[in-house]
Amino acid sequence: MTAELSAIARAVKPSATLSLKNEIARVQNTYGVKIIDLTAGQPDVGPTPDVVAALIEGGNLHKYGPIPGEPELRPLLAEVTNKETGASFTSEQVIVTVGAKSAIDTVMRAILDPGDAVVILSPYWVTYPEVVAICGGTPVAAECRPDLHPDLDKTAEAVRNNRTKALLFSSPSNPTGAVYSSEELAGLVRIAREAGIWLIADEVYRQFAFDGKTAPSVFSVPELHEHTILIDGPSKRFGIPGWRLGFVAGPLNLTKAVNALLGHTSNASRPIQHAVQVAYRSEQAREATATMVSRYQQNRDVFVQGLNAIPGIKCPQPEGAFYCFADVSGLYGKSYEYDGDQSATVNDSTDFRNFLLRKAFVAAVEGGPFGMDSHIRFSLAVSGQDCTTALKDIADAVATLHD
Ligand SMILES: Cc1ncc(COP(=O)(O)O)c(C=O)c1O
Repeated sequence: MTAELSAIARAVKPSATLSLKNEIARVQNTYGVKIIDLTAGQPDVGPTPDVVAALIEGGNLHKYGPIPGEPELRPLLAEVTNKETGASFTSEQVIVTVGAKSAIDTVMRAILDPGDAVVILSPYWVTYPEVVAICGGTPVAAECRPDLHPDLDKTAEAVRNNRTKALLFSSPSNPTGAVYSSEELAGLVRIAREAGIWLIADEVYRQFAFDGKTAPSVFSVPELHEHTILIDGPSKRFGIPGWRLGFVAGPLNLTKAVNALLGHTSNASRPIQHAVQVAYRSEQAREATATMVSRYQQNRDVFVQGLNAIPGIKCPQPEGAFYCFADVSGLYGKSYEYDGDQSATVNDSTDFRNFLLRKAFVAAVEGGPFGMDSHIRFSLAVSGQDCTTALKDIADAVATLHD
């Protein structure tokens, strides 16, 4: 035996944003400019003062707490979830985790045997295929339709053609901002039920629905499937992604297994749980979420309309979350000059993100790691001013592209 890293560790792809951060630093140093950052996967505002105060108060909870979560928080999460989604979870069916990310990781460990496939609706959040692979599974992408909504036929086919154990998606979606309709969700439920597999719905952006609508939950549709698992958490809705809290809700055999696994890995911090409990009950926090969603909707209105006016770019209207996912492949093959004497051609999404950085001084994330190399993701969780300025700078830069 030699002291080598595991095959799984060697295969993990570093997060797409890392090489981007390096290029942002290089461009900033070279040009001495401020980059407008449209890469953020988090709100541009933090928690309300009552929630911050509760965190400090929670500092008194310094002893180990129960693995599945604080006894007051679990029933509250069940109550809020049931009210928002129409589900009927008991507290035992809710397990608190270190962010929704660790909820997904632990669920995968609980359900996957080596080589089991997880069908993931594509484009997807970058972490999904990686976490499936880390847990010994095989990620299989099921492409969405051009409007970035689920293609139920392709999804059913991907489920049938593989040793599929689970079907995974997010709605409202990162990276597309698509909010799946009740009919689409019902279709996904039917596919999972007929195949006898787990259905994992990541609804961390549920509160981020535009135009006065509510994002339907997978638990709000008339179709039922007892093996449906909810991934959720307060990171986005209360602007606390750095606090690292999430939860999973699902059938009892699953939550018992998740609890057992967490007993030997990691469970959530008690002060954070105390503060999150206050956040879910706080009128101030609820209003702050509503204000944030309406600001991001205004950004969406300005930005997406502006993008679609740029020849070569097509962007479906996001219905929620805080991203838009634009097809920029119409500009592939075009060239530009930069750094005085350099020239480059845009042939893929990484080239396009580099072009935006170098010529528009705007940072966005390339679509490749989300499963769609024809696209680029912009985050709309920024000020209105940044949105307008970025849009103008993108339009001006694209106008300089040539054959
Ligand atoms: C779709 C989706 N699920 C889960 C997460 C992770 O959330 P958390 O901060 O709770 O780990 C993110 C974060 O970007 C996300 O986009």
